Formats: sequence, C-alpha cells, structure tokens
Amino acid sequence: MGEFINPASVPKVTFYNGVEVPCVGMGTFGSDRFTPEQVSGAVAGAIRCGYRMFDCAACYGNEDQIGQVFQDAFDEGVVERSELFIMTKVWNDMHERVEESCRKSIADLKCDYIDLFFIHWPFPNYHAPGCDVDSRNPDSKPFSAEEFIRTYRQCEELVEKGLIRNIGISNMTIPKLEAVLPLMKIQPAACEMELHPCFQQQELFDYLNDHKIQPIGFMPLGSPQRPERDICPEDVADMQTPEMQEIAKAHGVHPALIALKWARQRGQIPIPFSVHEVEYVSNLKSMTEDPLTDEEMAKIATLEKNNRLVKGQVFLWEGAKDWHDLWDEDGVIVTL
Ligand SMILES: NC(=O)c1ccc[n+]([C@@H]2O[C@H](COP(=O)([O-])OP(=O)(O)OC[C@H]3O[C@@H](n4cnc5c(N)ncnc54)[C@H](OP(=O)(O)O)[C@@H]3O)[C@@H](O)[C@H]2O)c1
Repeated sequence: MGEFINPASVPKVTFYNGVEVPCVGMGTFGSDRFTPEQVSGAVAGAIRCGYRMFDCAACYGNEDQIGQVFQDAFDEGVVERSELFIMTKVWNDMHERVEESCRKSIADLKCDYIDLFFIHWPFPNYHAPGCDVDSRNPDSKPFSAEEFIRTYRQCEELVEKGLIRNIGISNMTIPKLEAVLPLMKIQPAACEMELHPCFQQQELFDYLNDHKIQPIGFMPLGSPQRPERDICPEDVADMQTPEMQEIAKAHGVHPALIALKWARQRGQIPIPFSVHEVEYVSNLKSMTEDPLTDEEMAKIATLEKNNRLVKGQVFLWEGAKDWHDLWDEDGVIVTL
C-alpha cells in the first residue's frame, strides 16, 4: 500500500447546517479519456490513501464500478459508510424523475444514501453523449425558475425520505439564484462551479458565501485533460502561467498543488481528478502542509482571466445567440 494521509489531519469545512466535510474531494469524471475501471481503480486507491469525499455523477457512466469499490472497502473494513462523503448529480434528462435517478445512483454506488445530491445543470436541456458542440436539441429551452423548482422540490422530498442528506446546485448564476432561493424550503448546502486560478468567479463566489452556500470548485487545475469539445484556442493553461510556475518552484512542488492550496485557503472545496496514485496522493497531502503566504495568495488573485472552460454550448436552445446566453452575464436571466 502507498502513503496514508490520516483523514483526521485533513482540514474540514462546515456547511450552514453543521455538516462537516473534508476540504478536498476527488473528482470522478474520466473526461472521455479514462475507462470506468481506471477511474474506479483510482477511487479504490484514494480511499486507502485517506480520501473521504468523492464527486460522482450519473452521467459520468462509472457509478456502478465506483460502487463496487465502495462495497469492497466496506466489506474489507477499510472504511465505514458513515466515514465517506459521497456526492452525485441528477442528469438533465431526469429532471422530471429525480427519485428514480437518485435510487439508481444509490443502487449503483452501493451506498444506502447520498450525502450531497446536486442538480447537475439548472435546466433539462439534453444532448446526446459525444454530440458536436454546435448541435442544438430542438427541445432545449432557456432556464425557467418554475421548471427548476419542480426539480428542486423532488430533491427536498428525497431529504424527507432519507435518501439524500444535503441538496446541491451546480452551474448556477446569481440571477438564477435570486429567482429560486426564495422558493426553496430547504436551503442548498453547496454549489458546484468551475473554479481555477484563471477563472475565479469572484462575484458568484462572494454571493454564495453571503448566502451560506459552500462553493465546491470543479476543474481546480484547469482540467488539462478535458474533452476536445471544451478546448478553445484562446484558453489559458492555469498551471503554465509564469506566476504559478514561480510559486510552485518556491515550494518545490508541481503547480497543481499550488492551485489546490490556493483553492482551500480561498475557501472553496476543490475536487481534483487523477487516476495516477502519485498525483492523487500528493493532491490530498498538499492540504495538510506548507500553506501559501498572503503574498502568494494575492499574486494568484491577479491571475483572473475570465477563462471559462465549460462553456456549455451543447445546452443551447434554438434562437440562443451563443454560449454566453447560458451564464446571464448582463445580470438578468437570458430568455428567448
Ligand atoms: N458539476 C459539473 O458540471 C462538473 C464539470 C466538470 C467537472 N466536474 C467535476 O470536477 C472534477 C475535476 O475536474 P477535471 O477532472 O475536469 O479537471 P482537474 O481536476 O482540474 O484536472 C484533472 C487533470 O489534472 C491532472 N492532475 C491531477 N493531479 C495532478 C497533479 N498532482 N500533478 C499534475 N497533474 C495533475 C491530471 O492529468 P494527467 O492525467 O495528465 O496527469 C488530470 O487528468 C471532475 O472529475 C468532476 O468530478 C464537475
């Protein structure tokens, strides 16, 4: 067995409702490059090295394999169910059948209940796996608060039924939150959003903190292995910026670990992905040692370049201008 990082030594973050979680989790999206077996193999290694939080999703196509890994870990007494914090998400084509989706994830993940259950995208717009970024589904529509709340209500019922412990939202904007927060009976515990040094979403980040919704940062390293559809020529490679390289050199580590330290110290929970043991071990360990200085934190704050990587083109409706319409950049919800 490789290195073990005592989970007790990993700093914790507390949600508004008192639930305490590790300050880092492991992502499980294979980016179309890694098989379910490679990803679940990494989850098995990660549990044994001390990870306790995992970010799964129905649409990642690997929950069954990851569930087998959880089951084996429980059976072998490596960890108890209550020690893991398991997150998953309902995909866009299941917004009307949330309980069915949740029950399937629980069965696949073999975990009895979900700790944090996200609505993956705030609309039911669906695209076929692997479709072209320019293709538009004729059924796709702009965001509707009414429709969203119908989906959210189903999540609230899942809390009442004990199938999930916390509700999460993902890929949201401030105007959408303004429209739906007053309609919720159970406040969301967390919001999963794209966050890395060149895409800091400061306004949304502050809004979430003001509303006691914990930001969880996806693509914390700038996702160097992301699918082709999410790669644009103008994208900036976070870890290759001179500032990140320089800080990494000063600490004698890979820039990935600097991005993770920055994320934790700023206050988001990063969920880095890797199938390589040396990487996922160092990602977890980086949370327990050698923090960044105030000057280094300030330097990384200047790297903001509004470089959104997941633009979401495939969720656009007919008549939408371009992907900017998904993100309400003028402060109002973009409709038809
Ligand atoms: N809610 C949403 O809509 C949403 C969207 C996207 C992602 N997510 C979640 O966020 C997770 C993370 O995003 P991501 O996987 O796209 O991107 P990421 O974590 O930013 O980047 C992952 C890549 O970084 C490299 N890496 C990891 N640790 C490293 C280290 N210590 N040193 C050097 N390189 C390292 C690995 O590349 P190599 O294999 O080349 O080493 C890995 O493939 C996903 O797995 C998923 O769970 C959620």
